[in-house]
Amino acid sequence: MGLTNRVIVIAGCTGQVGTAITAALAAQGHEVHGLARFKDPTVRYRMEAAGVTCHTVDLVDPDLTGVPRDVDHLLNFAVTKTGRWDKDLAANADAAGLLMSHCRSARSVLHCSSTAVYAPTGGEPMREDSPLGRDHHQHLMPTYSTAKTAAESVVSFAAREFELPTTIARLCVPYGDDAGWPVFHLLMAQNGQQIPVHVDGSRYNPIHHDDIVAQIPRLLDAASIPATILNWGGDEVVSVKEWTRYMCGIAGAPAPRFEPTELTIPSAVIDTTRSRTILGPCRVGWRDGFRRLTETIVGHG
Ligand SMILES: NC(=O)c1ccc[n+]([C@@H]2O[C@H](COP(=O)([O-])OP(=O)(O)OC[C@H]3O[C@@H](n4cnc5c(N)ncnc54)[C@H](OP(=O)(O)O)[C@@H]3O)[C@@H](O)[C@H]2O)c1
Repeated sequence: MGLTNRVIVIAGCTGQVGTAITAALAAQGHEVHGLARFKDPTVRYRMEAAGVTCHTVDLVDPDLTGVPRDVDHLLNFAVTKTGRWDKDLAANADAAGLLMSHCRSARSVLHCSSTAVYAPTGGEPMREDSPLGRDHHQHLMPTYSTAKTAAESVVSFAAREFELPTTIARLCVPYGDDAGWPVFHLLMAQNGQQIPVHVDGSRYNPIHHDDIVAQIPRLLDAASIPATILNWGGDEVVSVKEWTRYMCGIAGAPAPRFEPTELTIPSAVIDTTRSRTILGPCRVGWRDGFRRLTETIVGHG
């Protein structure tokens, strides 16, 4: 069920998640077109060396001249979190529709959303039809949840309007061997800083980049009109406290200190029933994944 010899446009190719996917797709031999602002030229050089055709595009006001229209798949992993409503709605929502309009003859689209679109549940599992709203990230990223929800609506509209099979995947906590939110927790613990945890327990379904990459073909296969909406996370529910203590144990760091607060990201535990049926199980268990991450970070340190 893999992909072969596809032409793929990926927006957000320089991001945490986008980098992992772009590198993997290029290594698999696809014709990959990566979109980003490429403010760091070394990132662009690395991508070009890996065979990616890079297009400098600012999604706040995108000029898509030169980006191919006749592609097999469009993957949107771009996100802006400037805190400016005009910019973040334009780049996250409007631009998602403009990209789909540009690539309207594609076989399928994968749009990456976030579990931040859901109304917080206090740690109860969120299903794809659970209520949306009440901004998850308002204390840290005031535009994020709203812009992600707006993007879903635009993408949903575009799927119907352009008859373009689409999957909207609501990602939980992605992490790789050297990247992701847990890295901050490990570094804070190593520096003796208190780590904010939500009073609801800060529990999530972390998913390793290896599983994210492995599940791309199935996510594209699941694309439909109207758009398929899927939760996207790991099979296991883990708390920030649990993973930080585990990483500190491996790193030989002092026992972490936590600060319970309401002013941080609340729990986002997902119901994986639907996504497991479509995507199959994850391969990287959280302990293996966090061990790999910790060993990489400690090795770099
Ligand atoms: N990371 C998480 O913990 C997490 C959790 C849940 C869901 N998600 C979702 O996963 C997806 C990927 O997130 P991520 O963490 O990988 O994001 P990220 O690391 O912040 O990367 C964002 C990407 O978007 C591009 N971008 C930002 N502003 C842009 C602009 N104005 N024009 C063009 N490109 C722009 C960036 O490239 P340049 O800066 O080079 O332009 C970069 O490639 C997003 O949909 C996000 O909402 C992430």
